Amino acid sequence: MHFHKFEKIWLTFGLAMIVVFLAVLGVGAFAMGAAPPGDHHTQVDPARVEEIAPFNKPGLRQIGKNEYEAIMVGKVFSYVPDAMTVPVGATVHFTVTSPDVVHGFQIVGTNVNAMIVPGEVNHITHKFTKPGTYLVLCNEYCGSGHEVMSTTIIVL
Ligand code: CUA
Repeated sequence: MHFHKFEKIWLTFGLAMIVVFLAVLGVGAFAMGAAPPGDHHTQVDPARVEEIAPFNKPGLRQIGKNEYEAIMVGKVFSYVPDAMTVPVGATVHFTVTSPDVVHGFQIVGTNVNAMIVPGEVNHITHKFTKPGTYLVLCNEYCGSGHEVMSTTIIVL
């Protein structure tokens, strides 16, 4: 079989790029411990989410000066708790999980957008600097009631 000179050059270049990309990925993942974003070390048995702390008592608690912790469960087809109110400027640390299927935790008008995977505990922090009613919706198709899955955060 005969390869044209340019074909050989491009094949060599293409193979070299694959080797370089795999090396970068491999060194990053195995030597430097790079992993997809999110806290993948905290896990919870999805079948028992509603019995396990802190998800057995979902809700909002104040943990500091204008600093709050929001324990939330996203499930078919609602969020618990169904509404929360915080003062303007509040920093809220969300701890969210799902007992059933994958949901998409999005707070409209902010950059908060995370996948809620059953068995994984997700930690997201956001500071609410503007007053208003923030819609929290599900942006991952999760079944027949997907479009009604929402809650609100009222910032006063
Ligand atoms: Cu939950 Cu879509």
